[in-house]
Amino acid sequence: MSQADLIWMNGELVAWEDAKVHVLTHALHYGTGVFEGIRAYDTPRGTGIFRHADHIDRLYRSAGMYLMEIPYTREELRAATHETIVRNNFKSCYIRPLVFRGAGPMGLYPLDCPVDVTIAVWEWGAYLGDEGKRTGVRGKVSSFRRISSDAVIPAAKATGQYVNSVLAKIEVSKAGYEEAILLDDRGMVSEGSGENLFVVKGGAIATPGFSSDILGGINRASVITIARDLGYEVVERDIARGELYLADEIFMTGTAAELTPLREIDDRPVGSGEPGEITRTIQREFEDALHGRSERYADWHDLVAAPARAT
Ligand SMILES: Cc1ncc(COP(=O)(O)O)c(C=O)c1O
Repeated sequence: MSQADLIWMNGELVAWEDAKVHVLTHALHYGTGVFEGIRAYDTPRGTGIFRHADHIDRLYRSAGMYLMEIPYTREELRAATHETIVRNNFKSCYIRPLVFRGAGPMGLYPLDCPVDVTIAVWEWGAYLGDEGKRTGVRGKVSSFRRISSDAVIPAAKATGQYVNSVLAKIEVSKAGYEEAILLDDRGMVSEGSGENLFVVKGGAIATPGFSSDILGGINRASVITIARDLGYEVVERDIARGELYLADEIFMTGTAAELTPLREIDDRPVGSGEPGEITRTIQREFEDALHGRSERYADWHDLVAAPARAT
């Protein structure tokens, strides 16, 4: 991660080191924030923000589920994001919009606290590594179950909810694995700590649905579209833990990790122990879409109309 010069904060760009909050910020105490993770790519048509409108929509939906009113329109946040990228001179970057309950009355009732909005950008390579994208990573099922919708709202990308992913990530990292897979409260496969998960068996692709308390990943949706366009069958269904051990191929998708294969799960090789043919084929097509090399998915990019220097 390398830092940028400026961060957008409540309507203005401030220096990276000045983007500060009060210690009584409600969200710091109670996790009352919602956020997005987005990537902008250096495409042949210029800097393109991948599925920007879908990310902004999810941000508003997440805020709505927590009864937070975002004091800007979608178009204002879109324009602010463009400006932040341009003023930081990035051609490609990771983008982190954050909407949170700011400093106000303490106590659990948040609705009288202000709603603050920030947009930060920085350069960030593949989250699970370029090598991981090529050869696959080692995953481990965490002992921490995925947050369940009878306690919180798994479909919302809310800051406080991420202590669940953090616990799982720490657990498996300390045990020597690269990514945690979480089961839902029924013991079915849900997702990775920051990625959705796909299983390939006998040429068919399956991925857990919302009944497994997943976050509805935008890259998950993109990969489902790409896989179906390539002629593969994709079904959303419950996946038992044992199916991970029987799978021919497993891969994960997310903005940070993009498409990363699993080469091992719980110390068992996935298939041959190398990313399989279907994973490779979808990954190639997906990479082309992300980097704006695909005509078919050209409208997935929100182009940032401005000069920017090479990064
Ligand atoms: C818990 C969790 N699941 C899934 C995803 C994948 O979502 P997306 O593809 O929209 O980045 C993410 C990343 O945002 C995540 O944090």
